[in-house]
Amino acid sequence: MSIGQLINLARKDVINLVPYRSARNESNQVGIHLDANENPFVSSSGFNRYPEPQPVSLLQKLGALYGVSEPQLLITRGSDEAIDLLIRVFCQANQDGILITPPTYGMYSVSASIQGAFIESAPLLSREFVLDVDAIIKQWQPTIKLIFLCSPNNPTGNILDVDAVLGLCEYFCDKALIVIDEAYIEFSTSKSLTRFLNQFPNLVILRTLSKAYGLAGVRCGSVLAHPEIIALLRKIIAPYPIPTPVLQVVLDALSETNDERIKFQIKSIQIQREELRTFLQNHASVKYVYASEANFLLVAVDSPKQWMEVCRDHGIVIRDRSNIPGLSNCVRITIGTPEGNKTLQEVLRHV
Ligand SMILES: Cc1ncc(COP(=O)(O)O)c(C=O)c1O
Repeated sequence: MSIGQLINLARKDVINLVPYRSARNESNQVGIHLDANENPFVSSSGFNRYPEPQPVSLLQKLGALYGVSEPQLLITRGSDEAIDLLIRVFCQANQDGILITPPTYGMYSVSASIQGAFIESAPLLSREFVLDVDAIIKQWQPTIKLIFLCSPNNPTGNILDVDAVLGLCEYFCDKALIVIDEAYIEFSTSKSLTRFLNQFPNLVILRTLSKAYGLAGVRCGSVLAHPEIIALLRKIIAPYPIPTPVLQVVLDALSETNDERIKFQIKSIQIQREELRTFLQNHASVKYVYASEANFLLVAVDSPKQWMEVCRDHGIVIRDRSNIPGLSNCVRITIGTPEGNKTLQEVLRHV
């Protein structure tokens, strides 16, 4: 399968689009800048200039972090923007669609609906929430351009079987892009599928700094994919998606001095997750604690309503997921600090 054929899966109007070229795209030369209608007086914050569209320093940093070359990387405002860009590039409104494997992250279908793309489903097989490969193949039709898989999956927490995912990459190599959302991969013992990008040009990986890196507030995600797919996404992304303060915060946060701190936090969350699991498994009103390789646990309980109320009355917010098909009686609990988890356990003794 040539990359040219894969690119042809994209909307024709995007393929033919002449993208907006911002002043900073045209020239980033050092000198007196009179090309972008900016205020020439340096403000006290130093933000009078537009930022680089894709800051080279951040591309280098994230490229090294994720193990990809710069042309394989697009920096986005969180992975939510990445999901939206992919759907807008590949799905023609009222014609194309996406395939999802529910229960899964809600933004795939929300972004698809906004774009006027249809949504086909091949539900994960409970109780382990494994991929139903046969159903995915059966549900697929040529107008389905993107297959979204989430691993570890939100809200179930489990990692998807690597062989099943790679089998899908192979099967759909000339038919659809396989988008793996790895928002929670740092909490897992499994490795990112980035190492398969060169083998499968239809593989797209989403990463984010919102979870393990503790930067949900700065909005910084990444798409890792074949350079020609990245080039297509770059055509439609807003001219200056990465604000200068975000760049500064992210570069600081990814400095070597922070590396140990992030590793320590991930370890702490993993330990707390298993401690909370043990507590919950011994709790009288817990029916089942699902396997999780993420920073949360999905728990089936006797009465989600009561769990929500007791937690709320003690100032703790957990998430009721019981109205999602396949998740009746389930609540999702994010792993907090050791102190927060201790308080949670004390509170849950009241249920
Ligand atoms: C699976 C998954 N993907 C993506 C996102 C969005 O991440 P970001 O903050 O990078 O937009 C979330 C947020 O909860 C998520 O759970």
